[in-house]
Amino acid sequence: APSDPDLVERARAAKERLGERVFVLGHHYQRDEVIQFADVTGDSFKLARDAAARPQAEFIVFCGVHFMAESADILTSGDQQVILPDLAAGCSMADMATAEQVAECWDVLTEAGAAGATVPVSYMNSSADIKAFTGAHGGTICTSSNAKRALEWAFQQGEKVLFLPDQHLGRNTAVRDMGLSLDDCVVYNPHKPGGGLTAEQLRAAKMILWRGHCSVHGRFSLDSVNDVRERIPGVNVLVHPECKHEVVSAADHVGSTEYIIKALDAAPAGSAWAIGTELNLVRRLAKAHPDKQIVFLDKTVCFCSTMNRIDLPHLVWALESLADGTVVNRIEVDKETEANAKLALERMLALP
Ligand code: 13P
Ligand code: SF4
Repeated sequence: APSDPDLVERARAAKERLGERVFVLGHHYQRDEVIQFADVTGDSFKLARDAAARPQAEFIVFCGVHFMAESADILTSGDQQVILPDLAAGCSMADMATAEQVAECWDVLTEAGAAGATVPVSYMNSSADIKAFTGAHGGTICTSSNAKRALEWAFQQGEKVLFLPDQHLGRNTAVRDMGLSLDDCVVYNPHKPGGGLTAEQLRAAKMILWRGHCSVHGRFSLDSVNDVRERIPGVNVLVHPECKHEVVSAADHVGSTEYIIKALDAAPAGSAWAIGTELNLVRRLAKAHPDKQIVFLDKTVCFCSTMNRIDLPHLVWALESLADGTVVNRIEVDKETEANAKLALERMLALP
């Protein structure tokens, strides 16, 4: 639906009143009505890198989800305030690994005699607590655009990797990019004693994958790929690495949201594409490329419900509140967590 013209005008006016005091970041999964007000758009990596690009801005309004706003707070100076227009914009995958569960997992690894050889690598889609654990245990953060380099780095530091919390990104990167086999990977289930693994399995594994996943990307199946190939002969299947291994294996191209956007920019007119990622982005791509056939990979469509929480009314409310002198929905990571989490994020930013 087109956005409410009154709200569009109010957002524009509030942003103008704030001027250089505000910097608006927007993830590619945001609604059109919101992304039009972003000063910078990007995938998780680009937004983490660019968060600190406007040191003179008092407020960073993060149109994305909670873990992204936390990371922006960690990576910017203490004077800058990060605002998440709706505090309910979380991420179900990030919620699948809590600090207590991960501490318990480390105890299990220690008891199995495997912790000494293990380097944690945590996906950006995790809480600041998990990032702090990662930094404190010599590990790094990664995103979907640098997971390969993060694993290469980690395997230079140790013999095995504990990958948190997305088992699919971990498995896909290990098998596709690192030449490991599916048998080199085990899945640690935080809801089972000992993760549901024996000490022997933990010692033998090269990749210990946390049992987490993205509910949006988890919907794509091998059937979705086979169906679309039948419906659209010659279609290019392009998916995000949060998809299951069987989906990624059957796809033609795999990459982050930024990669997906660039791949379509480079695609020839007349080509057909089935995209396995969130719907706001797929629809925007279809609109931007009328000369190409661009479809959603699955028959039933699906937004990320938490990304979608940031809508125009919430953005207007946040911008007007800031312009009127009231700081709302500030995301602030406590100092101790921040120090270790920053270590892990900076290791990521320093990856070759
Ligand atoms: P990227 O934008 O880094 O590809 O990540 C996708 C995602 O799921 C963000 O929540
Ligand atoms: Fe989390 Fe998946 Fe939504 Fe990304 S798309 S924010 S991983 S639930």
